[in-house]
This record gives sequence, C-alpha cells and structure tokens, in this order.
Amino acid sequence: MAPTDALSITALTPAAMEGCLALSAEAGWNQSAADWDVFFRGGTVFGIGDAHRPDATGAVLPYSGGFGWVSMVLVTAPQRGKGLGTRILCRCIEALGAQGLCPALDATPAGERIYRPLGFRTQLGLTRWRGMGGGAVPAGVRPLAPTELSVAAAADAAAFGAERGALLRDLLDRARAQAFRTAEGTGFVLARPGRQALQIGPLVAESETEAATLLDAALARADGPVLLDLADRWTALAAQLRARGFTPERPFNRMALNRAEPFGNPARLMMVAGPELG
Ligand SMILES: CC(C)(COP(=O)(O)OP(=O)(O)OC[C@H]1O[C@@H](n2cnc3c(N)ncnc32)[C@H](O)[C@@H]1OP(=O)(O)O)[C@@H](O)C(=O)NCCC(=O)NCCS
Repeated sequence: MAPTDALSITALTPAAMEGCLALSAEAGWNQSAADWDVFFRGGTVFGIGDAHRPDATGAVLPYSGGFGWVSMVLVTAPQRGKGLGTRILCRCIEALGAQGLCPALDATPAGERIYRPLGFRTQLGLTRWRGMGGGAVPAGVRPLAPTELSVAAAADAAAFGAERGALLRDLLDRARAQAFRTAEGTGFVLARPGRQALQIGPLVAESETEAATLLDAALARADGPVLLDLADRWTALAAQLRARGFTPERPFNRMALNRAEPFGNPARLMMVAGPELG
C-alpha cells in the first residue's frame, strides 16, 4: 500500500493530551493522562495530523543502558493501512538512533506486522492477564516506603537493563498502598491506576516463589479489575493467576532493532512495568 506523504510528523505538546487519550482509548488500551505525561515529560510524543487531535502517534522514552523505548504507536482506525504507523515508527527509530540508543518495544501482534519488516527481533514473550484483586497480604513482604526507592531501583536496573529510578519514583507516587518489597530487597512490586484497571508491574524477584508472594500482596491491595504483563517463562505464576480466575488477554513480544539478545536479566524480570514502559 502506498504511504501517505502529505502529512508531516511533528513533536506534540501536552495540549494534545485529549487527542492522545482518545487514540489509546480507541485501541482499548489502559493508559491514563499520567501515563501519557511520562512521555511528554521524559521523552517525545510524535504525531501526524492535527496538533490537538492526531490521527497517529508514536512516543520515545530514552533509557540508560544503551537503549530507549518506543511506545504509543497508534493510528486511528479509519487511517490504518496507509503507511502512517510505519512512518511514525521510522521517526521514533531515527530519534533514538540520534541519541545512540537501540530502539526497543513491546509489540502487539498488530504492531509486529510493521516492526518485523524494519528489523525488530524478538527477545522474549509476554502475556497480558486480566482478573480481579482480592485476598490478604502474605507474610514475607512489607510496604515499599518512598525512602527505600533505591532498593527497588537497583533490583529493577539489574532485571530490566537500565537505571530508571526517576520513573519508578513517579510510579511509586501513583501506587497508593500497592507497593511492596521483600525483606532482603531482592524483589519488589509496584502498581498504578489505569483507564480501565489497576496495572501491576514492574514485579522483579529472585525466584518465582518470591514473585508469588509479591503478587499476592499487590492483588490484596487491589479491589477491582487488574491487568498485568507476565513473562511467558513463568509458568507457576501463570498457574497462580489462573487459579485466581485471571485469563490471558493478548500476547506481546519484547523486540529490539536488530537485537534478539535481551537487555538486563530475564531471570529476574517477572512482570514488566507495562508495554509502554518496558
Ligand atoms: C499497528 C498499527 C499502528 C499499524 O498502523 P498502520 O498505519 O495501519 O500501519 P501501516 O499502514 O504502516 O502498515 C504497514 C503494513 O502492515 C499491514 N498491517 C498493518 N496493521 C495490520 C493488521 N492489524 N493486520 C494485518 N496487516 C496489517 C498494512 O496493510 C501494511 O501492509 P502493506 O504496506 O504491505 O500493504 C495500527 O494498526 C494500530 O494503531 N493498531 C492498534 C494499536 C496497536 O496495536 N499498536 C501497536 C502497538 S505495539
């Protein structure tokens, strides 16, 4: 299909927030204004079309560790199949490349159709699970205090592959009572409210057993719908979720441009922060 060349790509400002939220809601995504704001403050949101009501978006978030995240690749349904998604993705790749960063992302099956031809390779598989909160906080974990953020940031950096303490601070501020750590500091979990559901993640742990306790704690503090993105290798955690009535909603593939080797340490990465953040 021939690409649409008439529309240029611009860097959007927070004045586009309503239009951005309309695009993510149209796709059935969970992001809130606070989620979009992460990209306006810490990265760049590119848009095609009206500066307040874009037809397409794509965002970049630079991380340390030699890579950056590509997010919010969205095209309004009537404009799909005209090359807008590919064009905005190429702009995101260019923006991260200019900073010497390898573009990485969590791809939906629809997104993979445009990422793979450009050279993105799969690093690991994830599944989005949906269910309900409930239960009691188990022994072995305690609330993560704001003064202990460095404990979580160190564990996250080892698992994810980049130091992102400022982002975790933002997530912790939004976590209300849904942030826990293990006594040893090897594991932690955060959660934040979204448009439709509480998003649990990141959840970093030394073992699946440790992760199971952190998951129970986060779920105990959730009193409504919950979404989380679990790495596919963790079959015991998947069984725990099924036993709680959770169902798999959609697959994601973590991909990076010309790089199949994962960043960080996937043996510690249980649940990601969300496909938009990695
Ligand atoms: C994924 C998405 C951004 C693609 O945007 P788009 O503007 O339609 O993409 P393009 O027009 O550049 O598509 C490139 C090619 O993939 C094809 N394609 C795109 N989406 C497809 C889909 N869902 N199923 C089958 N083919 C698809 C297009 O036909 C085109 O093929 P061609 O150029 O060889 O004819 C858009 O479908 C979308 O917003 N989806 C919902 C949100 C989402 O999943 N985003 C990705 C997050 S990782």
